[in-house]
Amino acid sequence: SFYKTGLILVFFSLSLGEGVRLRNNGQFPRTFLFGAATASYQIEGAWREDGKGLSIWDEFTHRVPSPISNNDTGNIACDSYHRWKEDVHLTASLGVQYYRFSVSWTRLFPNGYVDKINEKGLRYYNNLIQEILRCGLIPVVTLFHWDLPLKLFYDGLSWTNPELIDHYVNFTRVVIQNFPQVGRWITINEPRILCRFSYGEGILAPGIKESGILDYQCSYVILKAHAAVYRMYKKEFPNYKAPMSIVMDCQWYEPETKDPEDVAAAERQQQFECGMYYHPIFNGDWPPVVKARVAERSKKEGYKKTRLPQFTSEEIKFIKGTHDYLAINHYFTFLAGEEPEAPYTETHYENDVRVINSRMPNWELGSNSWAIVPWGARKVLNWIKQQYGDQDILITELGVADDGTSLEDDERIDFYSDYFCEILEAIQIDHIKIIGVSVWSLMDNFEWSSGYTVHFGFYNIDFYNDPTLKRRPKKSVGFFQKLNKRRQLDC
Ligand code: NOJ
Repeated sequence: SFYKTGLILVFFSLSLGEGVRLRNNGQFPRTFLFGAATASYQIEGAWREDGKGLSIWDEFTHRVPSPISNNDTGNIACDSYHRWKEDVHLTASLGVQYYRFSVSWTRLFPNGYVDKINEKGLRYYNNLIQEILRCGLIPVVTLFHWDLPLKLFYDGLSWTNPELIDHYVNFTRVVIQNFPQVGRWITINEPRILCRFSYGEGILAPGIKESGILDYQCSYVILKAHAAVYRMYKKEFPNYKAPMSIVMDCQWYEPETKDPEDVAAAERQQQFECGMYYHPIFNGDWPPVVKARVAERSKKEGYKKTRLPQFTSEEIKFIKGTHDYLAINHYFTFLAGEEPEAPYTETHYENDVRVINSRMPNWELGSNSWAIVPWGARKVLNWIKQQYGDQDILITELGVADDGTSLEDDERIDFYSDYFCEILEAIQIDHIKIIGVSVWSLMDNFEWSSGYTVHFGFYNIDFYNDPTLKRRPKKSVGFFQKLNKRRQLDC
């Protein structure tokens, strides 16, 4: 029992030590913003109502055989096109400060070409934004969250074609013009995931598999498109105060061992992902290690020149500096190690990195198998600061999936408690300027190729059994409401 008491004492002092890490009792800064996030195709439904045109996702989800779990489609999704008011109120009732959503290009311009605007689409987003403002929330708008107009795609205007850029700029100009009350703009959501899985691996619309060629071409076009919108915005809307940026998915890759080769591999992986877009935007040009690796591999494969499109010096200048803040979506951490000559497939990149899905000791997994590693968030935030300097960072998505069978989502409560504590530590101890975080997602929704089988929401929707699509609060709603009231966590 003496031994036991000793142990208890050790534990007690350890946990005390943990508890005093944070100043102000774990209080979030007064200006820190909490929010909730969604995206048009994932929640709106009404896929061909009120003049909306088809997007590549409408086509992709109707393919036979279906590329989506359970043959699910976004035809109805959460039906937020009709329930926008309720959804804004649900968001407000969480006690957050902002709502992040995206605009559907084809609801405003059915063919994608910018001529006569679809008035009913315009009215929808107007109503939505007015309601958000009435509830005292800040509207944060993503201009492109993957639902490209199908007509443009059929006309050869996709993210691998630089001619798409003008059309995209024209579309965003009209959105910006019409919605001066938007508080913050995001040009494009997760271009890396979009390019790799839409044009490299073929599991997102339009389902093209040209790994190592078209995914890079897409990255190149998207960076120029983002920059073109940013430059247009600054030039044509000098009176607008809302900051603009792009959202990158930045995960964390922990070296598998201390071996310098594994450490270098993990760093390389980070550059091939987060760095692939942020290096050009913050420092100009692709990350040096990406340029070198792709050139080397291309040569070995017998290509005359590198498969990675090269920026001209004008393009580098045009892209560099096109940010008012830095936005990331963060979901998981992987182990990474050196693997010479790794093939370019799902888990192996051509950068010779082995990403380890299996041997992850003691790491808990969300129901979609993403590893829950709270300290990974703090590490990637530090990596970002070290790479790109002292930026205002908005975490535009952070979330964990459940399997939808229960409203008692204690694992989500643990997830957010732990990750939010890491964010607080990053702010207080590492002095990183994190300005806010929005949870993914307000409610369960259409999770791309996983359809409705993966549940990220604070509100549950039983898509398969309940045609009323009733939004049912999970236990985490209470947790989040309390947190938003106190703005404090015991870390
Ligand atoms: C990032 C994407 O932006 C969002 O659309 C998706 O649903 C979540 N991650 C979860 O996978």
